[in-house]
Amino acid sequence: MSRANESRVLQHPGSTREAAMIESKISISDNNRRKLVELLNARLADTIDMQTQMKFAHWNVKGENFYQLHLLFDTIAERMEDAVDLIAERITALGGRANGTARQVASASSLKEYDLDIVAGMDHVRTLLDRLAAVANASRGAISESDELEDRATSDLFTEVVRTADKDLYSLESHLHGYQSRYEMSRGEDMRMGAGWRLWLGLILEVLGILVAVFSLGTGVMLVGLALGVLTVIVGLIQVSFWSRVRRVWL
Ligand SMILES: [Fe+2]
Repeated sequence: MSRANESRVLQHPGSTREAAMIESKISISDNNRRKLVELLNARLADTIDMQTQMKFAHWNVKGENFYQLHLLFDTIAERMEDAVDLIAERITALGGRANGTARQVASASSLKEYDLDIVAGMDHVRTLLDRLAAVANASRGAISESDELEDRATSDLFTEVVRTADKDLYSLESHLHGYQSRYEMSRGEDMRMGAGWRLWLGLILEVLGILVAVFSLGTGVMLVGLALGVLTVIVGLIQVSFWSRVRRVWL
């Protein structure tokens, strides 16, 4: 977490004071508790921001997969809300202040702003995937950070947050892979048809080359016909093999 971010997290926009830590009987040093609260507040801001971006997509998504994505985005937003509550209440359990107002979150979140002009379902999926990956990976880092601050409970909390976020990433990514497949498949199909056409042209040119030779119309013309035929067959074969590889990797 950057220095600038730390100070924003701890200072309420409506207050000029940093939040005072409340005494606690939890057997973690005051210094570590303070660092844990900073860490948790940074992740809290990102998670609330993520939840609102997910809701934005839930409300505004349009297109052929509208209903399915509308429901999926809402389900993920609900899980984000659970994560928000877990993180916020861990902050207060550690004696800190959970900085979760809209203004605090707006000033402390490290997430990029949502692209407000997005309409189509898959564009929402792509954007949410990018943001959710940032949230999940930052929380993944927080697992070891809280472990180093000798708080296994917070570490365990982040493990749970990450496990859920990874599953939601998988849900979003699965939509995108399907989308790419259909696109690549139709493109590959077009190219394979083009390759087939070139193979036939190559064979015809070769036959013409041989006929020219048979009827003794000249060796030079025959060689040109054969060379063109061989070249066209090679181009066709390369295309077939290239798109078969693309198909194996992506489809
Ligand atoms: Fe709704």
